Amino acid sequence: MKGKTIDKDMVMPAERVDFAESLLDWYDNNRRILPWREDPAPYHVWLSEIMLQQTRVEAVKRYYARFLETLPDIVSLAAAPEDTYLKLWEGLGYYSRVRNLHKGAVTVMEQYGGEMPHTSAELQRIPGIGPYTSAAIASIAFGERVPAVDGNLLRVFARLTAYAEDIKSDAAKKAATGFYQDVMDMAAGAAVPEPAGAETGASCASGRPVYDRPGDLNQALMDLGATVCLPNAQPVCDACPLRKQCLAHLQGRETDYPVMPAKKARKEEDLTVFLIHDAERIALRKRPPRGLLAGLYEFPNTPGHLTEDEALSYVRSIGFSPLHIRRLTDVKHIFTHKEWHMQGYEILADELAELHPDTKRSPGIFLAQIREIRDIYSVPSAFAAYSSLI
Ligand code: ADE
Repeated sequence: MKGKTIDKDMVMPAERVDFAESLLDWYDNNRRILPWREDPAPYHVWLSEIMLQQTRVEAVKRYYARFLETLPDIVSLAAAPEDTYLKLWEGLGYYSRVRNLHKGAVTVMEQYGGEMPHTSAELQRIPGIGPYTSAAIASIAFGERVPAVDGNLLRVFARLTAYAEDIKSDAAKKAATGFYQDVMDMAAGAAVPEPAGAETGASCASGRPVYDRPGDLNQALMDLGATVCLPNAQPVCDACPLRKQCLAHLQGRETDYPVMPAKKARKEEDLTVFLIHDAERIALRKRPPRGLLAGLYEFPNTPGHLTEDEALSYVRSIGFSPLHIRRLTDVKHIFTHKEWHMQGYEILADELAELHPDTKRSPGIFLAQIREIRDIYSVPSAFAAYSSLI
């Protein structure tokens, strides 16, 4: 594909000041009202940013509120047992996020006296806080001038500058970071047009220049990316405050950007899942402490698609006496790098079997009350179609 590569000066400095001004004015009139914006305490920003990394804003809102009800601050998160924070994360997926959040909270308690550091460089010393999250927290909660370059900012950058290289590359991230850093720095030092004789460099009540709002600039770009400069679709350029400066728009080639790398095929795995129950309990198993869905709870399952006879043998092999078998619906679950193609069986098991001294149940399998699955054990949404049957 042909297109111009970003030249730092292609969008001229003066235009970058306009850029910040147009963007912030747009943000002030169009910003989304989001709970973590209403009270951008560092812990709130941190939690919301971690939740938002893989999950849509609308879906995050209720998880965010519920999480804060139970774990309202860093102290309570650091002290929380694993099952508590995993349960609060149930349904959000990518559970390593909450494990790292917890580790991070412990670090803040132990090494920073319970107070989060204020700069992106120092924040990156906390487990689970990388360049993006540190920049988001530092800019939004502490006003540091540092771009938080996520997928939205990359896409906006790619279209603004008609960036012709792979947008997922390190080079693209670096170019976008440099570009937005210039925007922020110039906005901070900028004089706004003022009547003759007035001082230049207008400032607001805080004493900062009026466009020196790095947290808002980052969030304006996030909102612009989410609501106007849409991914995988025709962007709504008529509503964009930056359309006059956008090279992709000026060339009429908005959907040619960003340039994406070729997609790798996801690995497909067949599984057979068992809802093994007696009158009031159901078999669960804790997943290993590392790897996909680490430490979460699952219904016993085994690789491959088993026939009824094979399924009955398998159930016996893990220590149950099946009385009745029923085929359940097939379910496909898509992870980032793999797909599970699940088929399911419901098994009514003889409850006395577990009392028989010869019965050897597979390690890790136990019987949970249905209520406990709702309240205590976190079963990932990969199994949601089966969980909904119990
Ligand atoms: N996506 C990630 N962080 C966000 C934020 N602070 N506001 C809106 N969308 C976001």
